[in-house]
Amino acid sequence: MHHNELTDEECARFCGLIYRAAGIRIADNKRVMIGNRVRRRLRATGIGSFREYYAFLTSPAGAGEMPLFLDVITTNETYFFRDAQHYQWLGKEFLPEVARLAAAHKHPRRLRIWSAACSTGEEPYSIAIEVFEKRALFAGWKVTILGTDISGAALADARAGRYDARSVRHVEPGRLLACFDEDRQGGAWTVKPVVKALVEWRPHNLLAPLGGEPFDCIFLKNVLIYFDRDSKQAVVKNLVAALAAGGFLVVGPTEGVHNMLDPLARVQAWLYRQGGG
Ligand SMILES: C[S@@+](CC[C@H](N)C(=O)[O-])C[C@H]1O[C@@H](n2cnc3c(N)ncnc32)[C@H](O)[C@@H]1O
Repeated sequence: MHHNELTDEECARFCGLIYRAAGIRIADNKRVMIGNRVRRRLRATGIGSFREYYAFLTSPAGAGEMPLFLDVITTNETYFFRDAQHYQWLGKEFLPEVARLAAAHKHPRRLRIWSAACSTGEEPYSIAIEVFEKRALFAGWKVTILGTDISGAALADARAGRYDARSVRHVEPGRLLACFDEDRQGGAWTVKPVVKALVEWRPHNLLAPLGGEPFDCIFLKNVLIYFDRDSKQAVVKNLVAALAAGGFLVVGPTEGVHNMLDPLARVQAWLYRQGGG
């Protein structure tokens, strides 16, 4: 099926919708990319033009289409143990420190970590692998690792937990053996049930508060790059509110929120801490 090109005006309407729904600002020069991505939904729905698709998407009948639209719009690139120093800190400093505090009755025997834009799951599973390797420290604890994302398609992949060689390229061989089952045919690795059991998944838009119990650590990585100042500020406010006293925020290299984190103490360029810990 042939579809017309996306006009500047149509592109602007889709971009306005994306900004309101997800906080993402699409640059003006991304018209061809947006056209290509939305065209996948035209094909899937059998709708013949961008104009008709936009009308459907914004009509009451199209409410169910919005998540599928956001699935094609979001960029889900990720891999295991991205930014090695974050995981070194987690495994060698953060986890032992929480265990020490609990032994001194200064922390409940409860560990809560949130991967706040987890895409296809590599980030929360990498966290889970660190926790799994340190499980002796947390025997009898209530451990929660939560992975959330706005994309339901990404979360479906996360739940399946099956990855290709590219995705696991930074997983050490010993860990690959201990924490993954390799497919018979080779070339794909599935996270073992013992590691999978540590992670919970939930769809969540970072523009909204999450609610529930606070977290000892939140990962916020490689998601806010296309957010503008207002939407970044909304996300930061929600995350800071979700941090426990003494809890840590790990931020990615491209978030651009360093001037918005003054409620927190800066520990490293990429690591912030809530007071009161
Ligand atoms: C590039 S991935 C980053 C994955 C992982 N944190 C990492 O650093 O490798 C960015 C993810 O942010 C998600 N995302 C974009 N806007 C969002 C929003 N408003 N709320 C929640 N997730 C969002 C996308 O669906 C995508 O899966």
